[in-house]
Amino acid sequence: MTLNHVVVVGAGAMGSQIGMVCALAGLSATVTDIAAPALARAETGLRSRLSRDIEKGRRTAAEVAAAFGRLTFSTDLAAAASTADYVIEAAVEKLDVKRALFADLDRYAPPHAILATNSSSIVSSRIADATGRPEKVCNLHFFNPALIMTCVEVVRGPATSDLTVETSIAFVERLGKTPVVLNREIPGFVANRILNAVRDEAIYLLENEIASVADIDTACRTALGYPMGPFELMDLTGIDIGYLTKQDRFAQTGDPSDRPSSSVTALVERGELGRKTGKGWYSYDQAGIKTPRPTGEVRVTS
Ligand SMILES: NC(=O)c1ccc[n+]([C@@H]2O[C@H](COP(=O)([O-])OP(=O)(O)OC[C@H]3O[C@@H](n4cnc5c(N)ncnc54)[C@H](O)[C@@H]3O)[C@@H](O)[C@H]2O)c1
Repeated sequence: MTLNHVVVVGAGAMGSQIGMVCALAGLSATVTDIAAPALARAETGLRSRLSRDIEKGRRTAAEVAAAFGRLTFSTDLAAAASTADYVIEAAVEKLDVKRALFADLDRYAPPHAILATNSSSIVSSRIADATGRPEKVCNLHFFNPALIMTCVEVVRGPATSDLTVETSIAFVERLGKTPVVLNREIPGFVANRILNAVRDEAIYLLENEIASVADIDTACRTALGYPMGPFELMDLTGIDIGYLTKQDRFAQTGDPSDRPSSSVTALVERGELGRKTGKGWYSYDQAGIKTPRPTGEVRVTS
C-alpha cells in the first residue's frame, strides 16, 4: 500500500508529536482536533521544541522547515480523513469518544485506509466494531515523548488482518521507529506491563519493610542500569496516573492484586502526587531538587 497522507486525531501531548514524526519522515500529515485552541497550542509547542533541536544541532533548519511544510492543522476531520491512507487516533482516553470517532472515520476515510488507535489502555477490539472495516483496525501505541522514544507497539486485535499488521510495521519503520508486534491483545501491552511489574515489586519491598524508597531506587539505577528508579519515575509521571490505571484494571478484572496499593492510595488521597504537587515518594523544593521523605510518611505497611 502506498502511504502518502497520515491523519492524526487529537492534538494533545501525543497527537501533536506523532504528527510531527510523520512530517519529519517525509509524509504529508494533518493533525486534527475538535478544539481549535488545542491545534494552536500544538503548533506553538512543536515550533519551540524544534527550534531548540535546531539550536542544539540535533536537526537542521531546512529539515524542520520542510517538515512544517508537510504538516497541517485542522478542525475539519471529514475533509482531512477523505484523503487519508493511515489514521492514528490520539484523542482523549474515553471509550465512547473513540467509538464515535471511529464510526465517523469509517464514513470519511477511503476504504483502503487503516484506522489505528494510540490508546494506552483501550484495546482496538473494543472500538473495531464501531466501523465496517474491523480488519483494518489495530492499536499503534507510541511512547511519550513520541518525537524521542523509538518503540511503537503494533497490537493485533482478533479481527485485524495480516495486511493491516504488515502495513503498520512498514509504516512504523518508515517513521524511523522500532516496531514491537503483539500477536494478540493484552491489557497494558508489553512495555507498560513490564514497567508496572517492576513498580509493583518496588512497592511490595517498601510495604514489607525490606528497604526504603531511596534504596530501592538506588538498586534499580546502580545494579540494573535503569535511568531512574521506579519511585522517581512515579513522581515524574504523577502517582495519580498509575493509581487510575490500576483502578481501571481492577474494574475490568475484579482481581484484588490489580487494586492500587495502600501506600499509593494514601498518597493520592492526601494529594501528594509527585513532582507536580511538590511531594510524592520524595519532597521537591522550588528548583525541583528532591530529598527523601521519612519512610513513615510514605509507607503504609501491607
Ligand atoms: N500521554 C501519554 O503519556 C500517552 C502515551 C501513550 C499513549 N497515550 C494515549 O494517547 C491518547 C492521547 O493522550 P494525550 O496524553 O495526548 O491526551 P491529551 O489530553 O494531551 O490530548 C487529547 C486531545 O484530544 C482532543 N479531543 C478530545 N475529544 C476529541 C474528539 N472527539 N475529536 C478530536 N479530538 C478530540 C482534545 O481536545 C485534546 O487536545 C490517549 O488515548 C492516551 O491513552 C498517551
